[in-house]
Formats: sequence, structure tokens, C-alpha cells
Amino acid sequence: MRVIILGAGGLGSLFGGRLAQQGADVTLVARQAHVDAINANGLRISGVKGDATITNITAISSADQAEGDFDYLILGVKSKDTAATIASASCLKGRIKTACSFQNNTTKEDDLSDWLGAEHVIGFATIEAAMLAGPGHAEHTFVLPISTYFGELDGTITPRVQAIVDICNAAEIGTKAMTNIKQVMWEKITQIANAAGWSVSALAGNNSLFMGEGMMVKEGAEHYVQYARELISVYKALGYSPQNFFAPVSRLKELDSGEFEEAVDTVIQIGAGMQKSGFKGRTSMHEDIVRGKKTEVEETIGPFVHKARELGIDIPTVDAVYRITKVLDYYLD
Ligand SMILES: NC(=O)c1ccc[n+]([C@@H]2O[C@H](COP(=O)([O-])OP(=O)(O)OC[C@H]3O[C@@H](n4cnc5c(N)ncnc54)[C@H](OP(=O)(O)O)[C@@H]3O)[C@@H](O)[C@H]2O)c1
Repeated sequence: MRVIILGAGGLGSLFGGRLAQQGADVTLVARQAHVDAINANGLRISGVKGDATITNITAISSADQAEGDFDYLILGVKSKDTAATIASASCLKGRIKTACSFQNNTTKEDDLSDWLGAEHVIGFATIEAAMLAGPGHAEHTFVLPISTYFGELDGTITPRVQAIVDICNAAEIGTKAMTNIKQVMWEKITQIANAAGWSVSALAGNNSLFMGEGMMVKEGAEHYVQYARELISVYKALGYSPQNFFAPVSRLKELDSGEFEEAVDTVIQIGAGMQKSGFKGRTSMHEDIVRGKKTEVEETIGPFVHKARELGIDIPTVDAVYRITKVLDYYLD
């Protein structure tokens, strides 16, 4: 299997490295410092599954340097870099059998289809998490028993879907082939918009705060549930119902069902549990703000705002979170 990761940062290096460990012929297209470090010392992956250095991997700084055809292309850049990255990789057109992306947005399949042709694109969602700890080094920060899903956009399961599912499972990334990948991707973005938008609107005024510290405050938990219910109202208006695909992290079913106060208690308990276990976690959107980096607000919360307008749904809390985050984002690079 030949795989090219176009824009290998944290998560792209994790997937590329894990697939290479299973014998795939992997090419990472990455920034020069990352490329130089990998070519000198291999790709190091540390974190929740131990420490490994992968040397059977190709790292290049421009798609122009890629050789041959590829069975899979994984687009790994942040959404804001998609257009420029695709423009810089036009040499790959006609050389990719199947393309997909783990980006947190609702447009990645359209972007890839416009570039490579819809027949080449499959759906992909993961909650596996990783960050670039330094050149040549990805830190694997989060894993779940089932963290990753692939599927054809027409709802079928084909050999190309099964092949990438199988190699991910061999690499100990818990992965499933799905007949409803579009729903999985929408549920993922609902969950991400919930956690990210809540953490920015509740915590970004005090950069020493972590998730649990805000969730265990009653008003913080009330804001979490109200905001979640409005996001879920849009998700449901698309014809879906919460499934908790990313359980046990996913709590959309619990957030959506029962009395408001019961859901608030659930959030308070989750926050208290994080505190008790010493978990000091932030969402990547909150982390972007702490580090002064542009966020993915338009890609993660924007779809709900725009879809609600289109469908005539009233979501005042989502609107407020979106506006607050846009103001903070406006002054970041
Ligand atoms: N990280 C996670 O745990 C996680 C989990 C699920 C989904 N996601 C989603 O996955 C996407 C990527 O996240 P990430 O955390 O892996 O981002 P990341 O660490 O920033 O990785 C993207 C990398 O691509 C590089 N890049 C940008 N344009 C490029 C180009 N034209 N050629 C080569 N390299 C290029 C970036 O370099 P510069 O930084 O120098 O621009 C960066 O190193 C996001 O949409 C995110 O929401 C992430």
C-alpha cells in the first residue's frame, strides 16, 4: 500500500508513522525542519502507546518531490491551509486512487472531490489525537478503543475502505468501516464544536483554566448543556440522532436527553472526575488561543450557524459562542 500524507503535522505524522510500521510505503509531505529531522533520525512517535522511531518512511518538503502513484492520499493540513496546499500539489492529480482527510470541517470531501474527482474520495473521521512536539517528533496524546471511521460517501463498504480499516486496526488504531460515514462526520463536528466553543467562551478569559475546572462550576455546566442542545438541534434537523460514536468521550445522547438539570449534573460530574484524576486538558481551539494561533472557528462552529440560518432554526447560544470566538480569532495570526 502506497500512502502520501499531504501536510504531515501532529496527526498526519501519527497516521503516516503507524501505517509505515505496518509495512505501508509512506511519504510525508511536511515542513522543512520536520523533513530534515526525519531524514536524519527517523520519525519519533511518543505518548500514550509508548515510544518508537520509524525509519522506513519518506519525508519530503514539496509534493513535487513525490515519486509514483499512491493508493491513498490523506490531507493533513489545517483547514485554513487546504486551498494553498492543494494548489501547490497539482502534480499529484491523476496519481491518487483514493483520498480522504481527518480535518475537522464539513467541506473536506468537497475540497478533495473538486481537486481529484468525487470517485476518488472516501469519508474519514477520527478522534485519535497527536501534536508535533518538535521537528521529527509527534506526541500521541489520545486514543480510544474505537477512535476512527472510514466509509464510502454513498454508504457502501468497498475493498478500498476495508483495506485502510484493516491496516489501521493492525496498527492498533481502533477503526471501523461505516455505512453512515456522513453521519459519523457530522456527529464528530457536533462534538468538536461543543467542546471547543464551550471552552473558548467559558475559559479563554483565564488561560490558566482547564476543561474540568470550568465544567464543575454550575453555570459552566449549564452553558455546556444549553450550547450542546442547540448544536444537536441542528444535527437532528439534518435527519440524524446522536449515537455516541466516540464513546466513552461522546456524551451527546446524555446531553440531549432527559431534564436540563440532569444533563447539567452529568457535566458537573465529568468535570469533577477530570479534576480528581488530575487531567489537565484543553481543546485544541482553546490551545490555539492560548498560543496566539488562528483557530478553526469558521470550520467547526460556522457550519452550525450557517445551517441553522438556512433551516430557520433559532440557536442564540451557538450564535453567541461563534461571535465571541470570532472576536478572539480576529486578532490572531
Ligand atoms: N491533532 C489532533 O489531535 C486532531 C484530531 C482530529 C482532527 N484533527 C484535525 O486535523 C487537522 C490537522 O490537525 P493537526 O493538529 O495535525 O495540525 P498540524 O499539527 O498543524 O499539522 C498540519 C501541518 O501541515 C503543515 N503544512 C501546512 N501547509 C503545508 C504545505 N503546503 N505543505 C506541507 N506542510 C504544510 C503545517 O505547518 P505550519 O504549522 O508551519 O503551517 C503543520 O505542520 C485539523 O483540521 C484538525 O482539526 C486534529
